[in-house]
Amino acid sequence: MKNIKRLYAIILTLALAMGLCVPAMAAVEDTGFSDVTADAWYAEAAVWCRDNGIMSGTSGTAFSPDTTMTRAMLAAVLYRAAGSPAVTGSADFSDVAANAYYNRAANWASANGIISGYGNRRFGSNDPVTREQIAAILWRYDGSPAAGRGTDFADESSIASYAGQAVDWARAEGIISGMDGNRFVPQGQATRAQVAVILHRYLTRGTAVTPPADTTQPGHDTSGSKILIAYFSRAGENYNVGVVEKGNTAIVAEMIAEKTGGNLFEIRPTTPYPSDYNEMLEIARQESSQNARPEMADSVTNMADYDVVFLGYPIWNGDMPMIVYNFLETYDLSGKTVLPFSTNEGSGLAGTQGTITSKCSNATVLDGLAMRGQTAQNDRSAAEQAVESWLKDSGILDRTPSTPNTPSQNTSSTDFDLEKGTVTLNNGIEMPILGIGTYTLSNQQAENSVYWALRDGYRLIDTARIYGNEEGVGRGIQRAIDEGLVTREEIFVTTKMWTSDFGNGATAIDASLRRLNLDYIDLMILHHSQPSNDVDAYKSMEQAVSEGKLRSIGLSNYYTAEDFDRLVNATTITPALLQNETHPHYQSTAMKEHLKQYGTVLESWFPLGGRGHTQELFNDPTISSIAAAHGKTSAQVLLRWHLQAGNIAIPGSSNEAHIAENFDIFDFELTDAEMQRIAAMDQNRRHASY
Ligand SMILES: Cc1cc2nc3c(=O)[nH]c(=O)nc-3n(C[C@H](O)[C@H](O)[C@H](O)COP(=O)(O)O)c2cc1C
Repeated sequence: MKNIKRLYAIILTLALAMGLCVPAMAAVEDTGFSDVTADAWYAEAAVWCRDNGIMSGTSGTAFSPDTTMTRAMLAAVLYRAAGSPAVTGSADFSDVAANAYYNRAANWASANGIISGYGNRRFGSNDPVTREQIAAILWRYDGSPAAGRGTDFADESSIASYAGQAVDWARAEGIISGMDGNRFVPQGQATRAQVAVILHRYLTRGTAVTPPADTTQPGHDTSGSKILIAYFSRAGENYNVGVVEKGNTAIVAEMIAEKTGGNLFEIRPTTPYPSDYNEMLEIARQESSQNARPEMADSVTNMADYDVVFLGYPIWNGDMPMIVYNFLETYDLSGKTVLPFSTNEGSGLAGTQGTITSKCSNATVLDGLAMRGQTAQNDRSAAEQAVESWLKDSGILDRTPSTPNTPSQNTSSTDFDLEKGTVTLNNGIEMPILGIGTYTLSNQQAENSVYWALRDGYRLIDTARIYGNEEGVGRGIQRAIDEGLVTREEIFVTTKMWTSDFGNGATAIDASLRRLNLDYIDLMILHHSQPSNDVDAYKSMEQAVSEGKLRSIGLSNYYTAEDFDRLVNATTITPALLQNETHPHYQSTAMKEHLKQYGTVLESWFPLGGRGHTQELFNDPTISSIAAAHGKTSAQVLLRWHLQAGNIAIPGSSNEAHIAENFDIFDFELTDAEMQRIAAMDQNRRHASY
């Protein structure tokens, strides 16, 4: 407990030293949650908890305020608020699965005496947390401070003795107030909305410190090029241009990306800026006078990979916005070429070129571009010309033309982490290596399978538009999120663009997003090679990456090196993944060898051999004898073989027991000799005629 308090004290000190204190939040204008109206009693708390990484929404747009909070959910929230510290040892709770999303949180809460469990090896994971339990848990989290006995609640006598002091403390600190009739209602359950309010009150008592950010937030994908275009820009009402959907600087940034093939990174504040121009002026003035460093919502995970960094911003009050200072102080741009660009309404670069040069003393800062915001917004061809000639003058276009992909030895390792069950893709994004497949499942079956899989610990889901079950998959995901089993950020969703959509990629991507009910898709792959127009389709996926709709892109069913290279050579982003039929009778060995130069990882469909062949593999003497030796099933041996061989596997099933069985493969290992025996089964024979 002391450690937690120390951690908080350190964060508080650091935050004060860095000027990170934020004013207490005023009324919220737009919560960003579809189910939290701006005037809801818990709106401010919900937004604060989200913005400070304490409670994520239950989907990109929902907060689910009325969902009951369980003990496991509260443990997870507090664990995150404490900065997700390392956990050693396990309390061995019978109702905390090793792969449960709250496993670490439960063990941490128990080890620190915050939530001890019921004493019969039960943590009570799914039990709703009661109001007196919340008081006791927060009180312990706070170090069990002494509290004077305040005025009694009308139902004081029904408060359990273990919670008595805690309730006094919570009331005295203004953290939990009574209900009507001066009642505490100790056994009452709490909703997510109520817990958000309690946590907001508790964590902002006396200070206005930004608590530790949620370190699980995914980094921004900026892979695939040596050029980064980082920019800050604000949509909404602005000088000379009225209310705009896309900020002026964003427009210029996209032009640069288009001409250089560079990757875009938007410097986005954790707390969004208002759309109203006058309000914005006031906030900008305040930030500037406080020399503030507004927090950035995203991070560049692979800055070291870039040689050239464009940095774009509007001029605010004769300077760059303070968040751009934060960006410059966060990343080391030493050794890189830096090109500033501003949009403004008359101030040009306003001395920012000099500021950047002095902040990046070990970088080469080239002459920047200054453009009127209204030109960017209203006269695209003049803006294009200005960008083009600036790029030529800087020598950037000559130096790094918008070339197609070239194989790189520098891509991330495709080594699987079998402890964590993930692999880092060639774009720096972490992907689970075992997932649930949904081929042939109806919408209803897909919904159940996905829900069961997420409950059992799966974090990877595979579907396709042609399976006709994206809606069911979306419903299964939403169900798991609503129940607090997972957050959107913790899962990885793959879908595929069908060949008849290749001519209309952008529309197909939007349609998949809509059917899945997601704001972004973690991986989209082309379903099948189709030389007539698959390059066009792939380019539409590249475009969607730059728009934030897709995080990674790849291919499926490209069976020759020539076919794979044909597409790679005509496009820019190296495929993160290739999904092909793969199992012991067709081990894709040559293709995997070919993919190494690209850092592209292989994913197996039909990992258990496929329809009509599964039993053949299950009963194969090699597989079944290895299974017997480990006390595992043939399916588990086959799946474990995939992972150890470096193949992501996505076994499909609508059977609840099989889904659980297929995931239970992280507690044993095949020996080298066993791996070789299975390798010897290769017949280079595909089972599907597809
Ligand atoms: C808070 C604020 C302060 C501004 N201060 C200046 C300024 O000092 N000089 C200037 O030329 N333009 C100023 N502008 C105009 C912006 O620089 C210009 O509209 C810019 O193109 C906005 O870029 P964006 O749409 O990417 O945010 C200001 C705009 C705002 C919102």
